[in-house]
Amino acid sequence: MDELDTLVQQAQADFAAARQAAELENAKARYLGKSGALTERLKALGALPPEQKKALGAEINAAKARVEAALQARRDQLAAAELERQLQAEALDVSLPGRRRGQGGLHPVSRTIERIEAIFGSMGFDVAEGPEIETDWMSFTALNNPENHPARSMQDTFYVDLKDAEGRWLNLRPHTSPMQVRYARAHAARHAQAIAQGLPIPEIRVIAPGRTYRVDSDATHSPMFHQCEGLWMGENVSFKDLKVVFSDFIRRFFETDEFDLRFRPSYFPFTEPSAEIDIAFRSGPLAGRWLEVAGSGQVHPNVVRHYGLDPERHIGFAFGMGPDRLAMLRYGIDDLRLMFDGDLRFLQQFN
Ligand code: DAH
Repeated sequence: MDELDTLVQQAQADFAAARQAAELENAKARYLGKSGALTERLKALGALPPEQKKALGAEINAAKARVEAALQARRDQLAAAELERQLQAEALDVSLPGRRRGQGGLHPVSRTIERIEAIFGSMGFDVAEGPEIETDWMSFTALNNPENHPARSMQDTFYVDLKDAEGRWLNLRPHTSPMQVRYARAHAARHAQAIAQGLPIPEIRVIAPGRTYRVDSDATHSPMFHQCEGLWMGENVSFKDLKVVFSDFIRRFFETDEFDLRFRPSYFPFTEPSAEIDIAFRSGPLAGRWLEVAGSGQVHPNVVRHYGLDPERHIGFAFGMGPDRLAMLRYGIDDLRLMFDGDLRFLQQFN
């Protein structure tokens, strides 16, 4: 029947024109909905005589089936198009190599500090940490640098434009030596108690590694660098003990017996006498060259007083070394700046 064919064609065209599922459902309603064109025709059959009803009914149902088929085909098309759109939007190139989780590692200076801690730790040294922003008093005065003494500028200190609660100027500590004072003062009461009770005076054995700061920058100096302070106080700790302990440290740190160690007279306000500790390897690329590895000395009586201890009863030595320098020697690095550039190509070699 022409009229039904036209209706089917119209439905097909309407469905094809629908760009989205919602539009398609609207178009469907016009033909198959409660009062859609085909539904209406089916309802009208009721008024016809049985003969006609049967013939026309079959035709309408055939038309309805074609419309439903067209509807389903268009639904499938739209769904496929939607899927395609989503796939495009969330395009995933499965041929790309996977992204691995980055593997972290310890910085060579951290490794070195851990090594220093382990070696001194095995010799009974405690490990202490202290503030990087220090008072002028801790950085200098307590360490026997008189006010206005040129030694204060000798270290090219970074001053902080602030004073602490007691009106003392603050600085970025130019060395870890204030930790001698902080640590000893924290233990002074225990020492006084031992003396009062006639007990042997407990020893102080501590190292204090950490960041230090000076206005200095070239291939061998960085404005931020590391130091490790050492302090060993007892009733009669001497240079002989320092030599034994430091030689043992060097032997274990560099894993060799093939070196010589010497004390070279020097000056530090906080020690008297003072000495630089030099080592020279007997073999290897640095063989025969004296390398300065630490400053040291017997703690000055004025400093012992600032510890809160009695210089007549407490005798010992202090030393200060540079973990950055030790790391460079151990790993054969010739430019200190490499250590702090943060270049992974350099850093990954240590892991
Ligand atoms: N604080 C000194 C510096 O920064 C290093 C030093 C020398 C530390 C002698 C000491 C010492 O404990 O006894 O150059």
